[in-house]
Amino acid sequence: MTILVTGATGFVGTRLCAELRHIGRPPRALVRKESVTRDLEAAGHRISVADWETGAGLEAAMEGAEAVVHCAGGGRVRRRRDYWQQNTVTTRRLLEAIASPASTVKRLVLLSSLAAREPVSRYGESKKAAEQLTRDGSVPTAILRPPGIYGAGDDRLLPLFRSVKRGWAMVPHQHLLVPWLHVDDCVRAIIACLDSDLPSGTVLEVDDGQPRALGDILNLIAGLMDRRPPRVVQLPAPALYSAGAIAELGALLRGQSTLFNRDKARELLRKDLAMDASLARRVLGWAPQVALEVGLAETYDWLSTQGRLG
Ligand SMILES: NC(=O)c1ccc[n+]([C@@H]2O[C@H](COP(=O)([O-])OP(=O)(O)OC[C@H]3O[C@@H](n4cnc5c(N)ncnc54)[C@H](OP(=O)(O)O)[C@@H]3O)[C@@H](O)[C@H]2O)c1
Repeated sequence: MTILVTGATGFVGTRLCAELRHIGRPPRALVRKESVTRDLEAAGHRISVADWETGAGLEAAMEGAEAVVHCAGGGRVRRRRDYWQQNTVTTRRLLEAIASPASTVKRLVLLSSLAAREPVSRYGESKKAAEQLTRDGSVPTAILRPPGIYGAGDDRLLPLFRSVKRGWAMVPHQHLLVPWLHVDDCVRAIIACLDSDLPSGTVLEVDDGQPRALGDILNLIAGLMDRRPPRVVQLPAPALYSAGAIAELGALLRGQSTLFNRDKARELLRKDLAMDASLARRVLGWAPQVALEVGLAETYDWLSTQGRLG
């Protein structure tokens, strides 16, 4: 089965391509013209390039492919309208190419998000709209909804590590249980979806089954760093929202994308984060294998070797 992976330069896409190659199913890696492909090239992946705004190159990239995993997109943006382009428009372009008469694609796996369940943010809305497009599309689609994905190779937990290092942390909820998923468990769930014949449109929540309060995660990190648990200050909602607005303005002025903005602040403030991965366990035979303690230790090692802890 030839598998096309979109967003192959991203955190999840890179790990997925590596694992597929490792298990003897070398994928085709789809990137953008502006993507940095050095690591994919060094790993020996076959690379295709497409323009997601126009769809140019997508049909050629899919030639002979039987399955597509749509990892392109995500929550790093310059402007909040970018969520729509990177999550919804890319899905539309993909489905248009899959609907072409020459397409051989028989299965799509959409990497959606917990944020799509009951959206409180533009990111969540863009993911939910992408999910709906696949339900209206012509190809059987499995929809995965992970929570925050972490592991070596990604820096989204860096603020927590830095907080421990400086001895104090500001968090929106100290005691609210937050679900997580290690990137390797996410990759295993994606591959299980590729190999399944689930009814089209099946939505699968996947998490590691051990939601943790942010306060507990900070304590775990403190243990790894051999530091005292940080002093935790609970940030009131208006302050978090203002911090999001400032981060957003900063990103715009620097011309860089950011994970944290007013949109993310809204997500951080939501209270219903309980997940249910029982369907994924039952129909995919999937089970998470990486405990948060192990995954955080790996993340700490990676951040340290990258010199990211300051
Ligand atoms: N990481 C998480 O915590 C998490 C949680 C839930 C769901 N997800 C979903 O999982 C998927 C992969 O996430 P990730 O963490 O791997 O993201 P990531 O590291 O930020 O990578 C994003 C990937 O998408 C590509 N991309 C970004 N904007 C694009 C656009 N406008 N058009 C086409 N390609 C674009 C990037 O290509 P370039 O290299 O060219 O920029 C990159 O390959 C995303 O759909 C995300 O929403 C992630």
